[in-house]
Amino acid sequence: MDLNLKQPGRAAMDFMVSLTAAARPLAAAWASELAAAGVTAQTLPDDLDARHERIHQALAHSRAFAVSSLAMDFASVEHGRVATAAFEDLGLEPTLAILEAKGPAAIETREGFVPPDYYRDVWFHRTTGGWDGHPQQGLIHGELIHRHYVAKNFPGDIFAQRRRVLAELPRRDYTRIFEMGSSSGHFTQALAETFPAAHITGCDISLPMLRQALRTANAHGWPWRLIQCAAEDSGLPDASFDLVTSYIILHEMPRAAIAKLFAEAFRLLEPGGHMLMSDVTPYAAQDRMAAWRADWLARHGGEPWWRESATTDLAALARDAGFIDVQSRGIDGALYPWITMATKPA
Ligand SMILES: C[S@@+](CC[C@H](N)C(=O)[O-])C[C@H]1O[C@@H](n2cnc3c(N)ncnc32)[C@H](O)[C@@H]1O
Repeated sequence: MDLNLKQPGRAAMDFMVSLTAAARPLAAAWASELAAAGVTAQTLPDDLDARHERIHQALAHSRAFAVSSLAMDFASVEHGRVATAAFEDLGLEPTLAILEAKGPAAIETREGFVPPDYYRDVWFHRTTGGWDGHPQQGLIHGELIHRHYVAKNFPGDIFAQRRRVLAELPRRDYTRIFEMGSSSGHFTQALAETFPAAHITGCDISLPMLRQALRTANAHGWPWRLIQCAAEDSGLPDASFDLVTSYIILHEMPRAAIAKLFAEAFRLLEPGGHMLMSDVTPYAAQDRMAAWRADWLARHGGEPWWRESATTDLAALARDAGFIDVQSRGIDGALYPWITMATKPA
C-alpha cells in the first residue's frame, strides 16, 4: 500500500531513520574500544549475563557506547509513536473500512479467545500496547514502520528475504498452506506470489495486524482465510495442509510455546508435508561477541523472548515433535534469514 504521508509525519519518520544512521558509526567506535581493552569474541565468558557484565564494565566510561545506547532507546520507544501520529494525520479510516469489507478474503474470530500469557500485556518492540496497541496497528507497523523505517535500516531487502526463504522448499506445487503469525501479511503475500494455486490460511493473535493482511488480500483479489488464534492452538483439522510455515514469529515465543507450535504444525500436516519456519539467527551459530550484540539489541528493542528462542535448539524440538529430514541453517552462506525445515514422515 502506497502511503503518501503528510509533511510532518514524513519528516518525523525521516528523522528516526537519520538518527539510526547517524548513530551507526558510534558502534564502530565502541567496538574499537572493546578490542583495545582486550575484550573479544575469544576472551568473553560463555555465560550471557556474565558477557553483558564484562562488556558493560569495559565500556563504563565510553561516550560512544552511552550515546549509542541512548539513541537506540529513544528510537525504540519513539518509532511507534511517530508512526502512529503520521498515520492519524492521514484520516484514512473510511478508506480502510471499505477495503476490509470488499472481499474475497475474510477474518474469523473465535468467541472467548484469550491470548496466551507470554503475549498478553507485552509491549513488543516497546510500541505502546504492543501488537494490539492501536486498532490500525497493522497498517502502522506493517506499512509505515516496515516500509519507512525498518526497510531503510535493516540490512538487505526485507521483502525479498521473505520470498527467498520459500525458494528453499523442495516443492513448487503446494495446494493448502497454513501460515502461523501472518501479522500484516508480508510473508503471506510472498506465499501467494510464489504458490499462486495454493489456498492460504493464515493466523495471528492480533486482530489489528490481521486487518491489514485482510486489506492486502482484498486489494489483490486473494481469498485468504485469516483466523485470530494462537498458532499452537489453531483448532483446525488434522492433516489438512501440505505446508505449514512462518516468518519471524518464533523469537516472540518462549521455548515451551515453540515446542507446542511445532507439535501443532506436525498435527496439521498431511503425511509427507513440509514445515518451514524462518527466524532470527541462533546464538550457537554466532561468535560470542555477535551473539552478545544480538542479545543487547533485543533487550533494548523490546523483545522479551528473543534470548530464550535464540538459545533453543530448534532442530531438536522439530525432531521431538516427530519430524524427519530436519535442517536448521542459514541460506546463501549468510546467517540470516535462518530456516528450520522438516518433513512429516509419509
Ligand atoms: C514479527 S511479526 C510476524 C511478521 C510476519 N510474518 C511478516 O512476514 O511480516 C510477529 C507476529 O506474530 C504474532 N504472534 C506472536 N505469537 C503468536 C502466536 N503464538 N500465534 C500466532 N501469532 C503470534 C504477533 O501478533 C505478530 O503479529
